[in-house]
Amino acid sequence: MADTALSQTKTQARASAGADPRSDYMRYYPTAFDLRKRARQRMPNFAFEYGDGGAGSDGGIDRNWKALDAVELMPRYGKVVAPPSAQTTILGRSYSAPIGISPVGGPGTCFPGAERYLAAAAQAARVPYTLGVLSGITVEQGAELAPDVLWFQLYRFANNGHKIGLDLARRAAAAGVQALVLTFDTPARTTRPRESKSGIPHPFRLTMKMRLDAMSSPPWLMALAKNGIPRFVSLNPYMGDNLSLEESTAFIRREQGGAFTWDELKLYRDVWKGPLVLKGVLHPQDAERAAQIGIDGILVSNHGGRQIEALPASIDALPAVVRAVGGKASVILDSGVRSGVDAARAVALGADAAFAGKAFMWSLGALGPDGPAHLINVLTEDVRATLGQTGCPTVADLRKVPVRHPGAWRPEDCVERG
Ligand SMILES: Cc1cc2nc3c(=O)[nH]c(=O)nc-3n(C[C@H](O)[C@H](O)[C@H](O)COP(=O)(O)O)c2cc1C
Repeated sequence: MADTALSQTKTQARASAGADPRSDYMRYYPTAFDLRKRARQRMPNFAFEYGDGGAGSDGGIDRNWKALDAVELMPRYGKVVAPPSAQTTILGRSYSAPIGISPVGGPGTCFPGAERYLAAAAQAARVPYTLGVLSGITVEQGAELAPDVLWFQLYRFANNGHKIGLDLARRAAAAGVQALVLTFDTPARTTRPRESKSGIPHPFRLTMKMRLDAMSSPPWLMALAKNGIPRFVSLNPYMGDNLSLEESTAFIRREQGGAFTWDELKLYRDVWKGPLVLKGVLHPQDAERAAQIGIDGILVSNHGGRQIEALPASIDALPAVVRAVGGKASVILDSGVRSGVDAARAVALGADAAFAGKAFMWSLGALGPDGPAHLINVLTEDVRATLGQTGCPTVADLRKVPVRHPGAWRPEDCVERG
């Protein structure tokens, strides 16, 4: 606490002396957990709890972190290695590092205007940004802000023959989105105790308690004044422009729900010609089937521990998925990623990249609009350091590094019991 207060004073002093405060970020917030600590102090309680909380008692979140920590990379020394490059290819496109931003629905609750800041930072750094369908900017606005790196996530809007879902997919294609991401792992609505206890109501609206809570957070209030109350604007053509927040969340509850079936996935495969990603796969046979129907990318994820807390850590599910897919689709990981070391662990185990969700919310809560660029920088530097330490000149070389992974699910563990 004292350290943070001191760092804040120094940063402010440098800023008033004309120095760029961003140059201090690496010194005072060198890890995602430093950002988390600062975010907890600076965000309204409901905003932090929404962005940080998981299902149940956060057991899935802890499992993700512990499982990643348990993965060890064995280095070899004694040779001269060229300075490593973090540059890599994901789904056929070149990016500056094997990292990306996972979709977050309603990120404006964590920090108003979040989508704009995330999109701008991702575009500048050339890493993928997955805009969620439940966002405060439209897919078209997202594509303007991040033309080279925008991915777009869809939930299942199945009414009237997927009229809304398929139209959104067509709009994403027309806007030039790089990849369409279909979320597969939400067959049931689940509750997050920390979110409910913080006073966030369902359907969502800004209650008096939340407004009072926000009074304690000038940065959040300033962002709200600048960007307005977040609304799910990609859905305006279907629900109308003039609904209250409560009415629009009720609309979403009516229109969206359940997990895509295999037949529905084929429908989207027919309409969307670009790279198609299935997000939330854990079982190797689901991954195999997805690859068989032409899905290009498998995003191994347990939704960051936000669905139920008994799910495997996604890093533990990764190797069996990689084996099952056998190179027929790219594999990406999210859930629990806090560092470039975590991303390198995932790549060493066969993923092409690792994405983060919560850590980007912490970055916004901690540093406001500057947060996402700083976090991308932290993750990328960390990837480079890991490459250097393990003697890898390129990201692809990580696949050759000996890796020990005690928690990995084996294919025989995944057999249904009779
Ligand atoms: C506040 C919040 C909202 C989220 N909303 C969505 C969403 O709308 N769609 C989706 O597919 N995943 C959603 N996720 C899950 C993320 O895409 C991602 O899988 C998860 O955050 C990864 O784990 P991590 O937070 O430990 O990095 C959300 C995550 C958070 C933290």
